[in-house]
Amino acid sequence: MSDQSTTVTPEHFRYIASHTAPEDDFLRLLKDKAVAAAIPPIWISPEQAGFMQILLKLVRAREVVEVGTLAGYSAIAMARALPAGGRVRTIEIFPKHADFAEEWAARSDVGEKIEVIRGAGQVVLPTFRDNSADAAFLDADKTGYPFYLKECLRIVRSGGLIMADNAFAFGQLLDAKPLDREVPAVRVFNEMMAKEPRLHSIIVPVGDGLWVGVKKS
Ligand code: DHB
Ligand code: MG
Repeated sequence: MSDQSTTVTPEHFRYIASHTAPEDDFLRLLKDKAVAAAIPPIWISPEQAGFMQILLKLVRAREVVEVGTLAGYSAIAMARALPAGGRVRTIEIFPKHADFAEEWAARSDVGEKIEVIRGAGQVVLPTFRDNSADAAFLDADKTGYPFYLKECLRIVRSGGLIMADNAFAFGQLLDAKPLDREVPAVRVFNEMMAKEPRLHSIIVPVGDGLWVGVKKS
């Protein structure tokens, strides 16, 4: 343990999962129905959801921006961490995913806190006002992350959170010959985050690696 870190094994992750509030029946059903509807089966883990909810509560987030709604799992999870009157504005480019997420958000316990906005992040984010959010979660096309980051640094207030999914590039970050074509974009984004002077950030090894950054004053 010379570097003061315990090597985290799959057994540790199972232990973490077994000591985290499990997913509820609603989110389990949402995943089943998304698979049945041929929506890509991509969602954050319950442990990642729990961690993000804790962070949102710590910064007392009311307004959250998400890029990449997909089935709406993370939007619902994040909305559950917000106070009454809170809102997740979640951006989705594919109408089929937006339709599904809108339907399931409306059925959820936090329907009034979720606004699904249709379109590309490149088009929608520039319509959001400066300092109009307490937190952002990037979870869309990885080549778009640099632009989404630039916009979120404008949209999120000082002291707010900027989170970004998939820092470990679908598990292929350190592969010599990664198969996924988005891996280079993740690597470029990781370097950008590491050097970004307006953020105090770190990759948290939850899920596929979660960037957590706090916007400096
Ligand atoms: C995949 C996973 C993600 O979390 C994501 O945002 C995009 C793709 C994947 O496993 O392919
Ligand atoms: Mg992701």
